[in-house]
Amino acid sequence: WPTGSIEAKSVSRLSSDQMPRPFRVPFVQAPILPPYATGTDPADGLPVNYYRVTEKAAVANILPRLGTPVLGYNGLFPGPTISLDRGTKSVVRVRNQLPARHALDGHALSTSTHLHGSASLPQYDGYASDITHPGFYKDYRYANAQPARTLWYHDHGVHFTSLNAYSGLAAQYHVHDPIERRLLPQGRYDVALTISDAMFAADGSLGYDDNDHSGLWGDVILVNGKPWPVMKVQKRVYRLRILNASISRALRPVLSTGDPLVIVATDGGLMPAAQSVSNYRHAGAERYEVLVDFRKYSTGQRIELRNLSNENNVDYDFTHKIMAFDVTDEPVDTSDPTWNRIPTVLAGSETMSLQTGQSIKTRYFRTKRNDATNMWTINDDSWRDVIASGYKRAVANPALNSVEIWQIENSSGGWFHPLHIHLVDFQIIGRNGRGPFAWERGPKDTVYIGERETVRLLMKFTPHKGVYMMHCHNLPHEDHDMMVQFRVGLRESDVDPNDPMTAARPVWDDV
Ligand code: C2O
Ligand code: CU
Ligand code: CU
Repeated sequence: WPTGSIEAKSVSRLSSDQMPRPFRVPFVQAPILPPYATGTDPADGLPVNYYRVTEKAAVANILPRLGTPVLGYNGLFPGPTISLDRGTKSVVRVRNQLPARHALDGHALSTSTHLHGSASLPQYDGYASDITHPGFYKDYRYANAQPARTLWYHDHGVHFTSLNAYSGLAAQYHVHDPIERRLLPQGRYDVALTISDAMFAADGSLGYDDNDHSGLWGDVILVNGKPWPVMKVQKRVYRLRILNASISRALRPVLSTGDPLVIVATDGGLMPAAQSVSNYRHAGAERYEVLVDFRKYSTGQRIELRNLSNENNVDYDFTHKIMAFDVTDEPVDTSDPTWNRIPTVLAGSETMSLQTGQSIKTRYFRTKRNDATNMWTINDDSWRDVIASGYKRAVANPALNSVEIWQIENSSGGWFHPLHIHLVDFQIIGRNGRGPFAWERGPKDTVYIGERETVRLLMKFTPHKGVYMMHCHNLPHEDHDMMVQFRVGLRESDVDPNDPMTAARPVWDDV
């Protein structure tokens, strides 16, 4: 496993009685949905869900006896889960009712909401510089035309994504379809787990320390905003939709029993075939859907989900625990066909059936750190360069619907980068001259690239023309300034600097 030279500095300042202990907090299972209305699109008759999501300051109960100020969608930490069927469009009205400035560093709380995992139209993609100021709202429109998958929405405000997402502006978003509904557990057995790490100041507020742009390494693990919770489970198969929403930390989940984790879906949805692993590496922003079979355990048995390793070279005692499951004798509904189903063959997808022979071009990228400025780059480019060019500069210009291979080499000595490409799903076709890890053999939009590693990605640039971002999802790296853009189906002279930035302008919110 990769090693690194990261220095750990980010430790909570809580006294020992304020510091939470693993496995005291019960897990709240039912996801909170945002309020919404249903309707029909007059243009094509397709159903539309209209969601209301308000960004606001709130106080979360995370620690014993101390409140934690957060920024949350609808005041929740993490935010409410959106769940709908493929083919149902959505309009998400995101109102920015945040204070003018962040309490920790005073940066202006202007936000841009990105639906990560979606082939959104450019002007609704959460383009970093397409910001909505406090007091305004923007309606984000999504087609939800892709196969079932676990997505998430989070803030992408230019140069402050890291602190904004860390403060709570992150939530899951699920698209269902009939194939996935038939194969995998649904409802209360389809469990969203949003994992993050945090550090706390002595007064209970979130601590933030981006270690000179390298990352934040908290010593408290949160699952759905609770430290090391425990969840009651029946003796049946559960589906865990695991999102690592840590702004920097990568995890290596493993069960305390050593029993298998059956990976059934990656970022872009179902894999062609399930992959049974004893542990797997899970970087920030990646989503893995995992089946765990609790049938064989006895009533009262506790199974822990642990974090096996030091993926970051930055670990603290309790970051080796994530959460626990307590097995109950609650009767199992065996008329639900997913109660004991561990499918092996899942579903093909367009992305996974792409062949390397379809590629018309291979492009080469290199990630680097500039040691003089502590800034991160991709092919020596950064978001500053994009801004300076009037949003015209791009690292690649694939044609619409073309298939390409992108080879990315990490030569930033001692650092790993979870690299994320907007718009597309990709297939990982190579890692250091070999194939991908078992758990990566599904459609992806974020890939872990360890130090000195080279990955090869195969993708089709569909379904929209536009200008899209590619960046590191270690968010302090993204903010400092490891983010570039590529143009799909456009020449530089076609790029209107007002699009995607202001094509749909935020509107004053007088409600
Ligand atoms: Cu999850 Cu461009 O981000
Ligand atoms: Cu994204
Ligand atoms: Cu990085």
